[in-house]
Amino acid sequence: MEKQRGSFTNKLGFVLAAAGSAVGLGNLWRFPYLAAKYGGGIFLLVYIVLAVTFGFALMVTEIAIGRKTHLSAVGAYAALDKRFGFIGYLSSIVPFIITPYYCVIGGWVLKYFTVFLTNQVAEAAGDEFFTGFITQPAAPVIFFVIYAGATALVVMMGVEKGIEKASRVMMPLLIVLTVVIAVFSVAQPGAMEGLIYYLKPDFGRFSATTVLAAMGQLFYSMSLAMGIMITYGSYMKKETHLEKSVRQIELFDTGIAFMAGLMIIPAVFAFSGGSEEALGKGPSLMFVTLPKVFNSMKFGTVIGAVFFLLVLFAALTSSISLMETLVSILMDKLGWKRRKASIVTAVYLLAVGIPVSLGFGVWDFIAPMGMSLLDFFDFLSNSVLMPIVAFLTCIFIGFVVKPETIIEEAEVNGELKSKKFYKVMIKYIAPVCLVAILIFAVMEAMGAIAV
Ligand code: PHE
Repeated sequence: MEKQRGSFTNKLGFVLAAAGSAVGLGNLWRFPYLAAKYGGGIFLLVYIVLAVTFGFALMVTEIAIGRKTHLSAVGAYAALDKRFGFIGYLSSIVPFIITPYYCVIGGWVLKYFTVFLTNQVAEAAGDEFFTGFITQPAAPVIFFVIYAGATALVVMMGVEKGIEKASRVMMPLLIVLTVVIAVFSVAQPGAMEGLIYYLKPDFGRFSATTVLAAMGQLFYSMSLAMGIMITYGSYMKKETHLEKSVRQIELFDTGIAFMAGLMIIPAVFAFSGGSEEALGKGPSLMFVTLPKVFNSMKFGTVIGAVFFLLVLFAALTSSISLMETLVSILMDKLGWKRRKASIVTAVYLLAVGIPVSLGFGVWDFIAPMGMSLLDFFDFLSNSVLMPIVAFLTCIFIGFVVKPETIIEEAEVNGELKSKKFYKVMIKYIAPVCLVAILIFAVMEAMGAIAV
């Protein structure tokens, strides 16, 4: 995201850049543990339905807002209507909440990369290895600091161009490797049951929680409701077909998430049995299950090392774009230079990330609403703030700016096929669902309803 507003050189450039931001830990780490926890097939189904309806409408909206106004979120809402500039500010809070804990998990990935490099795959496959690691006071903090430092360094020096080039090699490689690992996982004895669990929806397990979790994941994974796609849209050329691009980004993002689930969920059945407990592991699932897969694989150490390197890379491209967002907000709003904004942001990341990391061990007594600090921040952004931002955006576009404005922008180059659908979605279906989801999320968190 350069200071002067350049644009992507070609169509693929836009799709790749947006996909590079979208594909990250959300797909590889977060999606599989949610799918495992919330009923497998039913979660997958709800997620896909939401992605092609709700996610589609919201992404078209955000990219069109950006392309129309040539501004990032903070300015874009205000440019459309002064009274609604606050939505831009609200959406900018989200990356401030996500980035620190994103880097904590980035640190875990870095740790696992070094574990495989130093050939400790057998140890890592043990049940207690991961918990043993994250509950330590110093080690996870050190990995977090290195990871956050690397992110900050790239943002400060602005070497995104090199990263873009590297993504063109690393991303396809990541896809190939996820396919290989998924095939191996599924072929394990006992994995078939897991495959069925993941692919066959059990409608008996459908509940509001499933929808809430899937929707929060959708925002997170597609980088929606936090102003990021608005910024990307502001760099998009008028010649690019908006609808097609959105479909491509969605396909890419959902495809990788799907493969990650295929890699991890059958393996949970093969190696840990498909018990509620094994499936409900939450944030630790990837780190507990995958080493077991690699441990039983021929050349597992090498494949594991390459895999975690690629995950590390996918995570870095995302955390760089997250941090870049924070830095550019500070630069735009306070007139700071890149260097100063980067340093202040880095200090902020440490100040929030270190407690998040310690929250699993020595500081585990800090448990807002009974959650670990990481889960709490995750809840705050994905289940509370993002639905609020998405709701306000729908109302704003649906009734103030009018959907026609967005449709017009989307149709600068080619027709928007799903016009009627888009209007109904943005004006009625999405806002009603969002309010319902929000009320449910807060009630659930307050313990008002047991699930
Ligand atoms: N979408 C990214 C992921 O799935 C996270 C992210 C959000 C990255 C917003 C950049 C901006 O991991």
